[in-house]
Parts: sequence; C-alpha cells; structure tokens
Amino acid sequence: MVVLGIETSCDETAAAVVDGQGVRADVIHSQEIHARYGGVVPEVASRAHAEKIVPTALAALERAGVERPDAVAATAGPGLVGAVLVGLSFAKGLAAGWGVPFIAVNHLEAHLLSALLEDPAPRFPFLSLVVSGGHTALYLARGPGQYEVLAQTIDDAVGEAYDKVARLMGLGYPGGPVVDRLAATGNAAALAFPRPILKPDRAISRRREALQRSDLDLTLSGLKTAVRTVVLSEGRPCDADIAASFQEAVVDVLCDRVLRAAERTGVRQIAIGGGVAANGRLRARLAALPLEVFLPPRARCTDNGAMIAFAGRLHLLAGRRDALDAPARAAWAPGAP
Ligand code: KG4
Ligand code: ZN
Repeated sequence: MVVLGIETSCDETAAAVVDGQGVRADVIHSQEIHARYGGVVPEVASRAHAEKIVPTALAALERAGVERPDAVAATAGPGLVGAVLVGLSFAKGLAAGWGVPFIAVNHLEAHLLSALLEDPAPRFPFLSLVVSGGHTALYLARGPGQYEVLAQTIDDAVGEAYDKVARLMGLGYPGGPVVDRLAATGNAAALAFPRPILKPDRAISRRREALQRSDLDLTLSGLKTAVRTVVLSEGRPCDADIAASFQEAVVDVLCDRVLRAAERTGVRQIAIGGGVAANGRLRARLAALPLEVFLPPRARCTDNGAMIAFAGRLHLLAGRRDALDAPARAAWAPGAP
C-alpha cells in the first residue's frame, strides 16, 4: 500500500510517500520566517503552509514516481490548529479527488513510532521517549494504538526549555540546535545546575497528587530559573559552559527516567522521537545505556512527512479509515480515539 503523508502541525511543511519497502520520498520545507520573531507565529505559519503545501506534495509524488497513492494520511493534531487545518484540508481534498481512503494521524503517535521506519526496528512492547517543542513524554508502546504514559513533564516541554534558554542567552530561534552546537564546545561540569527530579517537596507532591502524576514525571521550570539567574548574574560564565551545563542537567534527568522506566516495566528496548531526539549529547548518552537503544536519523526526529505516512499506513493496514469531516485538534493523546 502506497501512502502519501502530509504534515503541517507547526513550522515544517512536509510530504512523503511510504510503501511496504520504506520511504520512497520525503520532502520538508522549514519555515525560516519565524526566526525574526523569536518563536513560531501561528498565523504566519498557516499562511506559509498554504503557500508551500502544493509544491511540497507534488515534489514528494514526483520523487517517488507515484501519480496516485493508495491512501492519503495527514496530521490532524496535536498542533497549531490553523496550521494543522491547511495540511488536513488539502489531504482530504486529494483523497476525495482521487477516491482513495483518508486517515487522520496523531502527530505524537507518529513521533513515538518513528523508530519503526528504520532497520533494525524495535519490536512491541518498547519504550518510546518523545521530546519535542510542545510535548515531552515517555510511553510504553504495547502495540499499534496502545500507548501508556509512564512519565511526562508537568511544565515545559524539553524543546521549549531549550528554546527559552536560547532566547535568554540571545542565541535566536529555534534554540535547540544552537544550544546543542554551543554545548559541544563547553564544559558540562562548569555549573552545578539542579537536576529537576521531583522531590517529595510539599508543593510539588500536592500538585502531583492533584494532577495524578507519576513519580517519573519531570519538571523543568526550576532548571530554567537557575539558568536565568546565571545568565543575568555579574561575571556571567561563557555561553558554551552555560549551554553545556544546562544540557547535561536535562540529559541526566531524561536518562534517569528511561532507566527507571526500563527497570519498572522490564522492557529493555527504548526508541526516541521528536525534535530534541536530534540532540547530539542526548543521543550519545542514551546509546551508552545498558539497554537496546533505537535512534532514528536526525531528520526523522524533527517534524517530517515520512513518520505521518508510516503511522497512517499502520492504521490503514489494520483496517482503519477516517471520515472527511475528521477535525483538526489542538490536543490529542496518542492512542485516544
Ligand atoms: O518535533 P519538532 O520538530 O516539532 C514539534 O513537534 O514540536 O521539535 C522542535 C523542537 C524545538 O523546540 C527545537 O528547539 C528542538 O526540537 N530541537 C532540538 C534540537 N533540534 C531541534 N533540541 C535540542 N537539540 C537539538 N539538536
Ligand atoms: Zn513534532
């Protein structure tokens, strides 16, 4: 089954063609216009998607040598609703015009399954750490559509923390790749930033109880404040040392959660996905864990159309089809109907 996948949930306009052999074409257009505003401007993103979606999809079909796929998959959320709507509506139009099935894909589910596109691929059940700009969660993937949240952030997503730290330091947007590069030249032991582990501190445990949180959950707001204090201090250390020390704290916490989740569940395979999964230090530290680690190539960690086509294809093969009035959603837990 040849599937065209469309992704427009944030600031990448992407289209890909995936079949039983793998990825036949994968075209991504990253919107650079947001850099001047220091973050993604939703309305600007929607307009840029509307401009690029047709050439991007045509390029994917042409590169794959496909005139009419067997089905069309598109991200229906979670994401910026206006941005999602562009790709979703376009995909529905294509499916209706071609008279082929349509499937609405959960963007987080696509990230959490993206390691399955590679060889070797994890086998169910496996752990999957999704670390992106808007979401951070560690899932136990039991099978297609069956995901249990083992841990999640109670405040900032990891990518968001990278972006905020980069903004504090005046490094521009998106912050993740810049902090990653800068950190590689710094001393990670220069500054003792807090490891944001949920301590049995009263305020946090009350909040955790109210939200029914797991003790594997993480919080990044204290770390962000600690970085801010150092950045604004007199005798501010060099940027590379701040970046490396911040990054080490984040990676320590993520590795701690992965190891504890593996111990608790007895599941030894761990996959990662989402923009921060492109981070050099996180990849190196995860690869060194005594677990079976699956790291998709960097371009398949950040937003792409291949993961959407793949996740859609998995559901299509299981017999799922969606109606053409499937809504765009700002929030949508992976595995939820
Ligand atoms: O998955 P993604 O492309 O879009 C969302 O679904 O959010 O993730 C984007 C996030 C941004 O916050 C970006 O700063 C971060 O991923 N990111 C990185 C790296 N590359 C992208 N964070 C750390 N290190 C990187 N190399
Ligand atoms: Zn994403």
